[in-house]
Amino acid sequence: MPKAKVAIFISGSGTNMAALLYASRLPDCPYEVVLVASNRPGADGLSLARAEGIATFAHSHKGLERADHDAVMERAAQDADADYIVLAGYMRILSEEFVSRWTGNIINIHPSLLPKYKGLNTHARAIEAGDRHGGATVHLVTPELDSGAILEQVKVTILPEDTPDTLAERVKLAEYQLYPRALASYVARAARVTA
Ligand code: GAR
Repeated sequence: MPKAKVAIFISGSGTNMAALLYASRLPDCPYEVVLVASNRPGADGLSLARAEGIATFAHSHKGLERADHDAVMERAAQDADADYIVLAGYMRILSEEFVSRWTGNIINIHPSLLPKYKGLNTHARAIEAGDRHGGATVHLVTPELDSGAILEQVKVTILPEDTPDTLAERVKLAEYQLYPRALASYVARAARVTA
């Protein structure tokens, strides 16, 4: 079975991207990373991707309309022949047109147990609410923020001494386990459906 081709979009450190990339190099992974793209030309993850021999692309969103920037990013994914766009800390709200064109083939990871805490500051909000668990969710992307179908979640216990930063650190460890697995299951399932 040919591997699904994945373009990963990042805005920052790209540690989830790294987890996805290294998982793709283990035996039997059903996806391969064909591009790492960013709206921040200085994103740390771009140099890591380059060092690992992955094609990279960067184009700042500054001065561009949302839909125009999305189109630039989309073109890079298309030029790389990507089947899927995988958002990994890509801190941009996407235009409806762009998301609609990739329905079912655009995936995100969000640092909360959705549907709780859509948007920003998820860890602070979970601690503030006195929740016993935070966590992360891999979900399909729809035009409404953080609201698409949930693929998989992982819970992370909140400790009494946790701050948003200490909780974020442990949630990331959980994300590195969750995202490659959820993506692999999803693309393998999609391949079975279309075969
Ligand atoms: C991750 O924790 C991810 O869940 C979160 O940003 C972090 C990116 O870290 N994403 C969002 O908040 C999306 N709304 P990374 O760049 O090191 O992978």
